Formats: sequence, structure tokens, C-alpha cells
Amino acid sequence: MSITSIGGSAFSGHDAPRPKITIASLREQKLRHEPITCLTAYDYATARLVDEAGIEMVLVGDSLAQTILGYDNTLSVTVDEMLHHVKAVRRGVRHALLLADMPYGSYHVDPESALNNATRFVKEGGAEVVKIEGGEKRADLIRRIIDAEIPVAGHIGLTPQSINVMGGYKVQGKNLSGIEQLMRDAVALDRAGVCCIVLEGIPREVAAMITAEVGTPTIGIGAGPECDGQVLVFHDLVNLTFTPPAKFVRQYGDAAALIGNAVQAFRADVKSQQYPSDEESYHLPRDTKAALETVLERKRAMQR
Ligand code: KIV
Repeated sequence: MSITSIGGSAFSGHDAPRPKITIASLREQKLRHEPITCLTAYDYATARLVDEAGIEMVLVGDSLAQTILGYDNTLSVTVDEMLHHVKAVRRGVRHALLLADMPYGSYHVDPESALNNATRFVKEGGAEVVKIEGGEKRADLIRRIIDAEIPVAGHIGLTPQSINVMGGYKVQGKNLSGIEQLMRDAVALDRAGVCCIVLEGIPREVAAMITAEVGTPTIGIGAGPECDGQVLVFHDLVNLTFTPPAKFVRQYGDAAALIGNAVQAFRADVKSQQYPSDEESYHLPRDTKAALETVLERKRAMQR
């Protein structure tokens, strides 16, 4: 296997040098109305691809419970499982801002353990931001985490960790009281000082109102085009989820077909002895080969 280590260049195939993305530069992007891009990544290789493509935010989402670990939902993934992936992604990301999801249970029990878990994502995982689901009701906790010098991203609307309370993955904010709650949540998070708010699964009109109301950048997923940025799950983007995509997903590639075809071709070549070829094999140096021939000839002679 050959892996090229991350080089010293601050260029990514374009001419302009790439500055490090920070929470301050994201805010500037919002003010300039320059759309912010964010993708999930869960391992070193995809982290490098995403970072080197110029994506500004890389999120190690707890969606890895489903995409990588094969769980039915995000509820069972643990801090240790998340950290394993955050560390790998950290090694692949140079310019993007690195966010890590705090999984279900890691900030719900008490503020001390939440702070302890958030600290682990920074200290052990190298994350620059932790993401927490929930609005108004999380504002005090978020303030405490920020007080500990850890930037926090909010996440409201369809929050997958609330699947049992929501009764499924349902678009939120479809009626007046739902809209009012979402506005309160967004304002509470903004006041608490979050560095961005993920808006998931809400009507475009509501996301536009929130984006206009808050100073912090909004990053939409299934929340329409008026958000300050957009995030997608990497596996949705490249068709690696084995399920029909949600309405908001645009598939930009078909990794399932690409990988499936490559694996089938490998299998066929091995079965038909087309792989490996002589060119794909290592050979003995000429003198060792000659010496080996002599030894083998002697053995054959002794057996006669
Ligand atoms: O876990 C995740 O991938 C996320 C994104 C959907 C924003 O939270």
C-alpha cells in the first residue's frame, strides 16, 4: 500500500494560498455572503480528499454510527468510538475547521461529564469545535463549555438524537408553534455564543428567517438555499448508504458502482488467473536466481 504523506504546500491545485479556516473566518464568510461548505468525514482518506478539495468545515458526525458502524440510528455510538474516528480525521485535515459531534448520552447526564467529554474531543481527538444537538434547553450547558475555551456548534430542527421523542425523522417547524420554538432555539444558541448552527430538516422559509435573525453562520442540511452554508453526509454525496436518498440529497458520484465494479473485476481476474501478471510480481536478482538454479539442480541430481 502506498500513501503520500501530507506535504508542506499550502496550495490545493489552485493558485491562491489556502488560509486556515477559523470560527472568525466563518463569521466573515457570512458577512461577505460567501457560502460555507461542510462535509462529514470519518477516516484519514476521506478527510484528506475533503480538505484538499477546499471544503471549509469537516464534521466527524455521529452519523458514522450508521454510515461506518452499521447501527440503525445514532443513539448507540459512544465517545470512545467517536474519538477513534476524530483522531483519524485530524491526521488528514490541515485547512478546514474540524468539528466533532458529541454523541447521545455524552452531554445529557450532567454538566461535569459533558464538560469532561467535550474536553476529550479537543485534547485527545484534536477537534476544534464540538457539536451539540438541541436549542434553548442546551444554552446554559453550551455557555459552560465555551467558558472552558471550547467552541460549540449548535444543531436544531430535525435532531437525529431525538428520534424517539420525535417519533421518527420528521421535518420540524411546519406549524406556527414549531416555527416559534425554532426561532427561540436559534436565538438562544446565538446568544450563548455558538460558532455556527446546523439547521436540519426544516422548511426553507423558516431557515431563511433564522439565517437573517442570527449573527452566527447557519449551515443547512435539508433546510433550503438561504442558509449561510450547506452540509451533507459524505456517504450520501457519493451513494454509499445502501438506502434511497432523502429529498435534499444530491448525489455527486456513485462510489457504490465504482467500488462494486472494481471488486468484481478483481475477483474475476484472480479466478481467471489474470491477476497478478508477471509485471506485477517481484523477481529475484539475476545472481540469486542463478545460484538458486544451481542448488535446485544439485538437489534434483541427488534424488535421481
Ligand atoms: O452526524 C451528522 O452527520 C450530522 C450532520 C447531518 C449535520 O450531524
